[in-house]
Amino acid sequence: MADQDARSGEDMRPTEIPALRWEEPPEGPVLVLLDQTRLPVEEVELVCTDPSALVEAIRSLAVRGAPLLGIAGAYGVALAAVRGFEVEEAAAALAGARPTAANLAVGVRRAHAAHQEALTRTGDTRQAAAAALAAARALHREDAEASVRMAAHGSALLDELLPAGGHRVLTHCNSGSLVSGGEGTAFAVALAAHRAGRLRRLWVDETRPLLQGARLTAYEAARNGMAYTLLTDNAAGSLFAAGEVDAVLIGADRIAADGSVANKVGSYPLAVLARYHHVPFIVVAPLTTVDQGTADGASIEIEQRPGYEVTEITAPQVPVTGAGGGIPVAPLGTQAYNPAFDVTPPELVTAIVTEEGVVSPVTAAALAELCARS
Ligand code: MRU
Repeated sequence: MADQDARSGEDMRPTEIPALRWEEPPEGPVLVLLDQTRLPVEEVELVCTDPSALVEAIRSLAVRGAPLLGIAGAYGVALAAVRGFEVEEAAAALAGARPTAANLAVGVRRAHAAHQEALTRTGDTRQAAAAALAAARALHREDAEASVRMAAHGSALLDELLPAGGHRVLTHCNSGSLVSGGEGTAFAVALAAHRAGRLRRLWVDETRPLLQGARLTAYEAARNGMAYTLLTDNAAGSLFAAGEVDAVLIGADRIAADGSVANKVGSYPLAVLARYHHVPFIVVAPLTTVDQGTADGASIEIEQRPGYEVTEITAPQVPVTGAGGGIPVAPLGTQAYNPAFDVTPPELVTAIVTEEGVVSPVTAAALAELCARS
């Protein structure tokens, strides 16, 4: 198969702006986001001075990806507390901004609980705000550490499953440093394989409709000097058929207690393809994504996004003309089916890699045992 689209090493600059950071200028604390809707065209910062700006940034996907949503949600509670907003109200709005990624509510709850505990104990709002911020910072740090451990477990698993090396890995959506306090989940595993000289090629699904693969994963792969090739989502089948895929590595937005995995829409068809072609389908996610309170895949709430994301091209580099702010690619009034995620059943998942280790085969009991370790 030709690698004519490989752009390895073309842009090896490290990402200059972190996906998210807390700052305390004289005017008051702010949460600074790298606006992911503008990538890869420009690296623009979004400065949130209040929780409602952060809610809007979450809804518009300026900040996105399950682990980072958790961190953002926690800092959002801290921002509300430090700046004197109603904390209960802010926590509810933040947790409800997007429904599928488990981490968002986990992060919000953690900072909110720290705030409530400190307020009850001290009666002092400043101490309570400091406690919320400390909780957000701890989650941020822990997520970076989890990234390192997932990368180690995941790359060891790849080497075990594919002893011949020279891995050709297909990934979908985006799961690198743009979704994490560290280097990410699935992408971090591919990056570790690249650094060990064992990644032959990263196949990057463009990930319609919002192109997280083309805009964000390709951006991260280029900056890390990885050999990568972009493909349209519907080219994946022929790539498998040509024997060009050794493993699929994806992240997760929520993992139910039975091991069902909600991830960016298009993940489930890849799992079916992988099974048909006897290719390992590996999910990489921190334990904050595992939701023991959701029994199975059918119980996971799937976010439905606006139809104009499908009927118009809304990528940042195109001029704005359509009703949804993009270029129309379908007749006016066309209805669109636009779920943001789909669910892969556990029997199609070869392994779930977490910071605490690997679950394979994927069963409810093995997952519960791993969660109990943390
Ligand atoms: O809708 P998004 O962009 O927030 O979707 C999140 C994703 O990128 C997921 O597909 C990903 O695997 C989970 S985050 C590591």
